[in-house]
Formats: sequence, C-alpha cells, structure tokens
Amino acid sequence: RRRVAALISGRGSNMAALLAAAEHPDYPAEIALVLSNRADAAGLAHASARGIPTAVVESRGFRGDRAGFEVAMEAEFARRGIEIIALAGFMRVLTEAFVARWEGRMINIHPSLLPSFPGLETHARALAAGVRLHGCTVHLVTAGVDEGPILAQAAVPVLQDDTESALAARVLAEEHRLYPAALAWLAAGLVRVEAGRALVSGVGMAAGCLA
Ligand code: GAR
Repeated sequence: RRRVAALISGRGSNMAALLAAAEHPDYPAEIALVLSNRADAAGLAHASARGIPTAVVESRGFRGDRAGFEVAMEAEFARRGIEIIALAGFMRVLTEAFVARWEGRMINIHPSLLPSFPGLETHARALAAGVRLHGCTVHLVTAGVDEGPILAQAAVPVLQDDTESALAARVLAEEHRLYPAALAWLAAGLVRVEAGRALVSGVGMAAGCLA
C-alpha cells in the first residue's frame, strides 16, 4: 500500500473520506500522516481518534517564507515515508519547486467542474453564473493553481432555489465519493499523463467520470 499524506487546513471531511476508504484491506493506499498548516484544524482530532499520525506545521510561523514552510512539511513526510500527497482542503499555495518535486505524486480536490471556477468561493460564483451543472474535480497538482491534469469529476444539478450552502453540501457529498476513487487510481499506478492530459487505465469507458 502506498503511503499517503493528507494535507488539511480545517474541517477535514475529505480527509475523513480517504481514511474511511483506506480502512478497506484492498484499498491501494494508506493514510500514513494527516498534516495541517493550522493547529486549530478540526480534522486533526478526527485523525488522532482513529490512530492516524498527525503533524502541524503552522504556515503562519514562516511569515511568507513558503520554501521554509515546505521544507518543514517535507521533514514530516520523510519521517513517515510519504510517497503521495493528497491535498484535502489545504488552503496554501505551494511553490513551483515543491510542486515539481512531487509532480505526478500530488493530487488536489477542488469544489467546481474545472476549468470553470478555479480559486475560492466556487459555489457562490456558480450560482451567480447561472450554470445548471456544478460539481467537483480531482486533479494532479501542477504549478498553475487548479490547472493540473484532471483525473476525475463528478457533477451535480444546480437547482432553481439553491442556496450557496445547499449547493456546497450537494457537491461535498460527491467529493467524498470521488476523492477516494481517484486516490486509489493514482496509488494503484493506473494514471499516466500524456500531452498534459491524465489517462486512467483499467477502469472502463467512463474512466474519471462519476456522474
Ligand atoms: C472542500 O470542499 C474542498 O474541495 C475545498 O475545500 C473544502 C474542504 O472541506 N478545497 C478548496 O477549495 C481548495 N482550493 P474539508 O476540509 O471538509 O475536506
């Protein structure tokens, strides 16, 4: 089983979904570390309660020294023999050098159907745009924020009387299904990148699309 670090900044519900999936003996990855850049991240308690090693590397303490922050995180990864990074509501932008070091081995979940709505406030922006479909994306992390090759997407309808929180909850339920599936593909070695696109082998015609 590949050793994965889940990186969080807050609630950690996607991390919890990864932990739950990894409890299955056939799952190709284990969550060997949950690391937060904030000591007050609620998700840390959830991980500790399940006996998962946790670490806090407070980004605040590095006063804008992003490279120093990343070196400190990588010391934790080295201690735990981490092979794959899963960003799970991790709200820090990483340096190009760090992204390059983890190229092909770091994934992110984003709450929109990329390339629509990169960045923050995705649900409010989807409502304002009047789109009828919204959703979530798991992608490999590259230097451009929210721009890496797409591994998997799930779509949800946007309803006429939706609120931001109702839409967020509908998307989040899909995130919790999508992220464990996509991490499993990466950990099992089913993912390769060709011409900037991620190809997933062995999961059938609808690879990457959980509609
Ligand atoms: C999730 O919706 C995730 O997609 C989003 O933050 C939320 C974290 O929730 N990520 C981003 O916006 C990344 N830019 P969680 O902590 O409960 O997993």
